[in-house]
Amino acid sequence: MSSKEFLEKLNKAIARELQVSIQYMWQHVSWKHPKKEIRDELKKIAIVEMRHAEDIAERLVELGGTPTTKPEEIKVGEEPAEMIERDVRDEEGAIKLYTEIIEDAEKLGDEATANLFKKILEEEKKHREYFMKALKQL
Ligand SMILES: [Fe+2]
Ligand SMILES: [Fe+2]
Repeated sequence: MSSKEFLEKLNKAIARELQVSIQYMWQHVSWKHPKKEIRDELKKIAIVEMRHAEDIAERLVELGGTPTTKPEEIKVGEEPAEMIERDVRDEEGAIKLYTEIIEDAEKLGDEATANLFKKILEEEKKHREYFMKALKQL
């Protein structure tokens, strides 16, 4: 793992955070299901994801990189169950990528990045848990 590859992985993380931040916010605004708690939670999680993007971008700049402005493909969906199924998959993708980033950061001796991603990883696990629980109510 070169430091260039590592910075590219951090940018991949930023692209994902930007994607889910917009995706969850647009799911929030277009929500048509009577379960209003899920609608409200989508907005809260969207804001948490934007904070993740900011935290990772700050670290990337400290490491000499330039944060991407391009989100991964945004998939809002139409039916509530379809939306939340996508969100569960996106959280699983984040958990997989961030577990890898923590391992890479530790190999590179970059404690600050490892610690940042450990904190974010815990939040992604909570999001996945929440979406899985929400899915059963739809
Ligand atoms: Fe996130
Ligand atoms: Fe998340």
